[in-house]
Amino acid sequence: MFDIISKQLIAPAVWRQTIKAPEIAGKRQAGNFVIIRPKVGSERIPLTIVSSDNQRGTIDIIFQVVGATTMDLAEVESVQDILGPLGHPTHIANFGRTAVVGGGVGIAPLLPIAQALKQAGSRLTTILGARSKAFLILEEDMAPISDQLLIATDDGSKGQKGLVTEILKPLLEEKKIDFVLAIGPVVMMKAVSELTRPYGVKTMVSLNPLMIDGTGMCGVCRCKIEGQTKFACVDGPEFDGHQVDFENLTRRLAMYKSEENQRREARK
Ligand SMILES: Cc1cc2nc3c(=O)[nH]c(=O)nc-3n(C[C@H](O)[C@H](O)[C@H](O)COP(=O)(O)OP(=O)(O)OC[C@H]3O[C@@H](n4cnc5c(N)ncnc54)[C@H](O)[C@@H]3O)c2cc1C
Ligand code: FES
Repeated sequence: MFDIISKQLIAPAVWRQTIKAPEIAGKRQAGNFVIIRPKVGSERIPLTIVSSDNQRGTIDIIFQVVGATTMDLAEVESVQDILGPLGHPTHIANFGRTAVVGGGVGIAPLLPIAQALKQAGSRLTTILGARSKAFLILEEDMAPISDQLLIATDDGSKGQKGLVTEILKPLLEEKKIDFVLAIGPVVMMKAVSELTRPYGVKTMVSLNPLMIDGTGMCGVCRCKIEGQTKFACVDGPEFDGHQVDFENLTRRLAMYKSEENQRREARK
């Protein structure tokens, strides 16, 4: 069992938890995730390691309650199993003028990578998007590492009213961006990738397919990248957005929707 040291509701249905997991904390790098099973009988779900404290032996995760397993995780005081760190660590370098684009709870996996890119010397234009001000997370963590911080909300309650792509477009037109990293809902990552393609600006995205084992064995996380099958858990989760088949990812994410809905209803 892995004790949850602290938990905090940081936005509606979005939790931050600090979990005692010294071995994972010691090895974790930016871009890694864990597979968590909250309690016996729960399914296993992937969640990004947002931060770690080697001295305390803890890792932090931030997750949105969307279904049965995240409901379980929000309630438990200790976690049954955690496997990790998993996934390729992000390739960190000075990419020059870098736009880091985060949408919704995707801002959580974006934070550790943005911190590492900043440390490597990249100049960060951070663009955060949320439904409304109440759903905007981690602005206070992103602000100090950003050379420029821009916010878009659907209802205009914070920053510019509209989508993150509406903020990114003029920056691309003015040739102010050399590299883009986008993490958020699939529709957002697809829209950002389509936007940057004609400008020839390299764009990485972090894919969020369903996962079970996280070690390349089950095949559940398979994605189409430039026509080839890749396993997001071992080959990713980050890929070149211009090579990702987002339609395939959307279809695969919806494959178990009725079962997920049934489990969520049964769990309520
Ligand atoms: C590498 C990786 C890292 C991730 N990191 C985070 C993170 O840091 N924070 C976080 O909140 N989530 C993260 N996710 C997504 C998270 O794993 C899912 O939200 C979780 O599995 C949902 O489980 P559930 O049983 O509660 O809901 P389910 O019953 O599985 O699903 C409920 C609803 O959420 C949708 N859904 C399920 N899985 C996903 C998914 N992977 N992406 C988008 N929608 C989904 C379903 O379509 C359904 O409508 C990550 C996913 C991957 C692959
Ligand atoms: S989660 Fe099973 S192969 Fe990737």
